[in-house]
Amino acid sequence: MLYDLKKIQDAQVKGKKVFLRADLDVPIENATIKDASRLRAWFPTLEHLLKNGAMVYLCGHMGRPEGVDEKLSLRPVAEWVNNKLELGHIGLEEKQVNGFKAFATKGNVTILENLRFYKEEEANDDNFSQKLAELAEIYVNDAFASDHRAHASIVGVPKYLPHFAGLRVQIETEELSNVLENPKRPLAFIIGGAKIETKLPLVEKMHQLADYVLVGGEIAENDKILLKVQHEKLEGTRSVLLVADLIESTKDITEKSAENFLQVLQNVASVVWNGPMGLVEEEEFAKGTRILADGVTKLSAYKILGGGDTVSCIDNMKLLDKFDFVSIGGGAMLEFLAGVKLPGLVVLEN
Ligand code: 3PG
Repeated sequence: MLYDLKKIQDAQVKGKKVFLRADLDVPIENATIKDASRLRAWFPTLEHLLKNGAMVYLCGHMGRPEGVDEKLSLRPVAEWVNNKLELGHIGLEEKQVNGFKAFATKGNVTILENLRFYKEEEANDDNFSQKLAELAEIYVNDAFASDHRAHASIVGVPKYLPHFAGLRVQIETEELSNVLENPKRPLAFIIGGAKIETKLPLVEKMHQLADYVLVGGEIAENDKILLKVQHEKLEGTRSVLLVADLIESTKDITEKSAENFLQVLQNVASVVWNGPMGLVEEEEFAKGTRILADGVTKLSAYKILGGGDTVSCIDNMKLLDKFDFVSIGGGAMLEFLAGVKLPGLVVLEN
């Protein structure tokens, strides 16, 4: 294992207030959650805490707001939690806790409003971390998808409280450590989607681990030449790089590119996929991703899929259960597999 984490199973939480940092960043449309898989991933940790007599302050972020933005309110997430806890039809009570807006359930859970409404969160402001830490006596991190961000609720709060890794973080760390330390070769990475500023520097690192790097999506559109130059310049590179061609509108990869990718993948023993190949929100630009998904799921290789958008897209295609492991991390999974130490995990080490 790459990290020696302090585990929630070893924490004495009975009668204690626990600050639970979780992944609350789910796709929302008109205040409705479109895909709750990220919430389901850490829910067992919340259940563990409640079953063992804790009172929980649940918090996290949604999207990338600049200041308060009601469209990115965590109210729908708070409602999801309230329903899932089966507290009946008892509504949420809006209140302030230590100056933070929050939604209280009638049970032992209070959900803080989107922490990114405060600029101090991303700035990792120390006073802000202390104010959050004052809410609780124990800190638990079950926010694997956010553990690559050195933000206040990830690295600041645990400085002030005894801290532990949640159940999901433990699963992710174990599974991805195996891939990194002992990959079944040949190993291929498929990288697509947006958030280029996070992904581009990682492609370079991945060349050292992977045998093939296949790039589609927005990153292929904007950075095709850059990627190729970067690859040629790298000495000691072990991977073959393939960057997809795009259809005229640039909103998807060509069918030929998707088929070429599949041809390469016939030889691999493991494959890690993050990011759709096109603008899959629009059905007509989901073709490349669908061809690839149909082909990948038929491979006998060990298959890992990661990232919020990728998971919901493959789930819509009803192919999710064909993957051996589904990570809730997008950028976090890529950074982990690129060998970058995740700040959120480093602070949880023994
Ligand atoms: C994610 O969706 O990958 C996480 O929630 C992190 O989001 P961020 O890239 O906006 O920090």
